[in-house]
Amino acid sequence: MRAGLAGARPLSRPCILDTDPGTDDALAIWLALASPELDLRLVTVAGGNAGLERTLPNARAIVGLSGRDVPVVAGADRALLGAFTAEPRVHGADGLGGVVLPEGPPAAPGIAADAIRAVLRGAAPGSVTLIGIGPATNLALALATEPALAGRVAEVVLMSGAVSEGNITPAAEFNAWSDPEALAILVGCGRPLTLVTLDLTAQALVTPARIAALRAAGGGRCLAAAAEILAAIPPSRRFGNRGVPLHDPCAVAWLLAPGLFTARQVAVEVECGTGPGRGRTHVDRWGRSGRPASVTLPESLDAEGFFALLARRLAVLP
Ligand code: RIB
Ligand code: CA
Repeated sequence: MRAGLAGARPLSRPCILDTDPGTDDALAIWLALASPELDLRLVTVAGGNAGLERTLPNARAIVGLSGRDVPVVAGADRALLGAFTAEPRVHGADGLGGVVLPEGPPAAPGIAADAIRAVLRGAAPGSVTLIGIGPATNLALALATEPALAGRVAEVVLMSGAVSEGNITPAAEFNAWSDPEALAILVGCGRPLTLVTLDLTAQALVTPARIAALRAAGGGRCLAAAAEILAAIPPSRRFGNRGVPLHDPCAVAWLLAPGLFTARQVAVEVECGTGPGRGRTHVDRWGRSGRPASVTLPESLDAEGFFALLARRLAVLP
């Protein structure tokens, strides 16, 4: 068990964010755009929480509202081996809980996997951080079709998987379940991987009080929209209807403030069968599997510090 290496990270690391916005994705994208530690070179979009016909305009609108000039590129509208299944119960049919944002700039031309590879080809070895907060399809397609480019990747941080129970099936977390083969490709890509699971994000519970604190942070249209989006997410019965876990921004916060977390190295195996365990992330915390403990698993979160960081950073956006 080790605390994140607070302050041990270089400033302004080049990164790519792959997303399926998605209510919690919206806040994660704004957090990344608001943080000088991250040089966000590209946002790539997949289906997932909603169909690509919704997640792409949502991503354009989210980035557009920030006023930041970051290309948004469309990617996978289906998983490697099948279709995505949306989650309107959490994100609404439109993907943003019914919150309407002004239309964003047009998407950049091309497709996500090609755009990811283009950024990696132009990057120094081990320099680009890949942040995945949706089904891992785009990232997997990029790395599987040009494996040598993995050498340009500094690390991969994914919001995906669960140590204990899932949230879309008893066994599986939604992103892992949406494309387990893609997640398995990322787990096996040979680059440092951090898996931000449901067990971690459960500690980032959005409550009415925390939404009120977000609103009180001042800020501009992005912070106001963020609070509106959070308020639109129905409370989770998994948490006694006290609130809803804020998943995706935890993956970005790991890169910004690792001192808010404690983590350990674990072995992870992704179940890719067709049974009830499909999408299960088998997390070996005690070395029982004989598999290499190559994955970093954040286990605890300073929730107050996390929400304070979120408010502070989103308040600087327009
Ligand atoms: O299980 C939570 C994850 O699935 C988050 O990324 C959320 O946006 C959904 O994509
Ligand atoms: Ca997501």
